[in-house]
Amino acid sequence: MEIKEQLLTERVDSLLSIMTLEEKVGQMNQYNGFWDVTGPAPEEGNAEIKYEHLQKGYIGSMLNVRGADEVRKVQKIAVEESRLGIPLIIGFDVIHGYKTLSPIPLAESSSWDLAALEKSARVAATEASAVGINWTFAPMVDISRDPRWGRVMEGAGEDPFLGSKIATARVRGFQGDDLAANNTIAACAKHFAAYGFAEAGREYNTVDIGTSTLYNMVFPPFRAAIDADVKTFMNSFNELNGVPATANTYLQRDILKKKWEFNGFMVSDWASIAELIPWGHAKDKREAAILAANAGSDMDMEGYVYINELVNLVNEGVVKESIIDDAVRRILRVKFELGLFDDPYKYCDPEHEKNTLRHASHRAAVLEMAKKSIVLLKNENQLLPLQKTGQKIALIGALAADKNSPLGSWRIASDDNTATSVLEGMKKYTGNTLTYKKGTDVSVGKTAFTKHISINTTDRSEFKEAIRTAENSDVVVMVLGEHGFQSGEGRSRTEIGLPGLQQELLEAVYKVNKNIVLVLNNGRPLAIEWAAENIPTIVEAWQLGTETGNAVAQVLYGDYNPSGKLPMTFPRNIGQIPIYYNYKNTGRPTDKENNVFWSHYLDVENTPLYPFGHGLSYTSFEYKNFNIQEEEVTLKDTVHVSVDVTNTGAYDGKEVVQLYIRDMVASITRPVRELKGFEIANLKVGETKTVHFELNKDTLGYYDNNGEFIYEPGDFKVFIGGSSVTKLEKEFTVIK
Ligand code: NOJ
Repeated sequence: MEIKEQLLTERVDSLLSIMTLEEKVGQMNQYNGFWDVTGPAPEEGNAEIKYEHLQKGYIGSMLNVRGADEVRKVQKIAVEESRLGIPLIIGFDVIHGYKTLSPIPLAESSSWDLAALEKSARVAATEASAVGINWTFAPMVDISRDPRWGRVMEGAGEDPFLGSKIATARVRGFQGDDLAANNTIAACAKHFAAYGFAEAGREYNTVDIGTSTLYNMVFPPFRAAIDADVKTFMNSFNELNGVPATANTYLQRDILKKKWEFNGFMVSDWASIAELIPWGHAKDKREAAILAANAGSDMDMEGYVYINELVNLVNEGVVKESIIDDAVRRILRVKFELGLFDDPYKYCDPEHEKNTLRHASHRAAVLEMAKKSIVLLKNENQLLPLQKTGQKIALIGALAADKNSPLGSWRIASDDNTATSVLEGMKKYTGNTLTYKKGTDVSVGKTAFTKHISINTTDRSEFKEAIRTAENSDVVVMVLGEHGFQSGEGRSRTEIGLPGLQQELLEAVYKVNKNIVLVLNNGRPLAIEWAAENIPTIVEAWQLGTETGNAVAQVLYGDYNPSGKLPMTFPRNIGQIPIYYNYKNTGRPTDKENNVFWSHYLDVENTPLYPFGHGLSYTSFEYKNFNIQEEEVTLKDTVHVSVDVTNTGAYDGKEVVQLYIRDMVASITRPVRELKGFEIANLKVGETKTVHFELNKDTLGYYDNNGEFIYEPGDFKVFIGGSSVTKLEKEFTVIK
């Protein structure tokens, strides 16, 4: 054992040895603290209880307390008034920033730029740590193939390889090199596991998937987070094959803690221990506590089950004290690693808070990230980039002037209406005549994180003016899509076209002016078949956070050449879902006899509207000299692949060069394509670069149905190009 590790273990063990059972169980509770615990009791009437529990050392963690002064207050009670003075670990959902917001995670993931993603998490950690937060509930590393599920906005999309790389980057960004530094925070890989496979994309729903999907699709990003030394995990609201994740011993103990040797701790999701009762898995809270603790849920988030049940259960001999000790050890360990025992107030400096939040360098970083996140889906007739002078431009759509929606739904700490709008961004370009008309509202009434949103389906009163303006313009920029509060937790949708009256407005404007640049705002892939067919130019701008308007304007005017690539497939219609690039071939992939008996639909093609990995640039790229150095290798060898990429267009640009493989015959059938490498090539006009990839048994193998990683000889195809449907292919063979 390394000396550092040995010292850590000794410190944890010696503290554990003097703790009472009540104090130990206390560490396993996380309380919500949206209010000032030292102030008057809030409506729910439990402030006094929380205060008393803090004094007794019965709270291990609080979430949603924030601000250097506020955190100091609660920390002071825990440290100075409780018997052992064990500091709290303060958690918060720092999902894509604290005050200064980066794009939503799905958007950031479209950059495929790992250094930028790491930096974005670094900015988030810098601001969060300055307000007393030590722990974020991020990254969400759930793979999902279902855009109906609102939480796809919080993840990295559908692919386990890209998802694993992004998980690593985000964990590194939050945790930095030194967790004890005052500008780093512990990360949390969530939600373990398979939450993204909720049936029919309905939030909190049942998950029933096979082992092959579990091992090869769901687990890899979690495994990558552990390899990046993530300190905590969160379990998930779903059940997996009949056992809720919170009570799932197989997931939490057998896989996570035994097989993967994870030594951090597992926090439940919000009240998910108590939810074992409505799931029909536990008959009461007592049974819920037994099941969750035994299964390896170390901390109870705002569920009040452990605090009320566990001491008695241990005293009665129903739950072993060793289970409690194991959980507490894990929790204390992270607190020691954060340096909280050495200085519990080191994140509580109001001066530092003031100087850090909304720092100009943070705005600059999120602007860069926002530009990198934009995906050019279509650019017929080279409508983009816009000319900078002499043009009459109509800007239409309520989202064009919205300063709130672009912040997305996971921005609890950020201030409302603080995004730059597209209108503000475009106004900075003064060479054209810009006329803004709303056209139609997306939503009606107030919007809020916890509330349903009402969509405008009746008010067309501003259609006319918008249409007239469009008619008299050279180019129409329409900013349409979802409101920020239409995706995120609890926000599944069954219709994923343009909400409300926006499709109608789009078609009406199209009748008078076909020169439309459609800028999409959304937290999930949308089914926009009509637009894809008719509108010449479509820009996927997601929800880009604080610097939204500036990023969009710089891309529209060509001051930034877009390079984003989709991390998730866009379906043609909802009936195709789940649709994803790494599907299986089936026994009947094509129509051989000109009859109906093959795997397809009668009414829509099998192909998606926009495939995974798709994204255009203002320039063009040519791929040449695709080469695989070895025709035949053994399982011990490395396969060397290279390709020359040339910028053949008129703008400097970046291309995300992607490599996919297909394992042609395997004991468990393999997908038709699997991403196994990507590289961003920065190319000046006319420039050529050779991009190199290596494949080895780690990228050629897969998990069998026992969860063992296996390598099998046989033929492999390799595909290289700018999206998952690239046609460039070559082969090699792996021999024994
Ligand atoms: C519930 C969400 O599922 C989880 O991701 C989040 O971190 C917690 N609430 C805390 O807010």
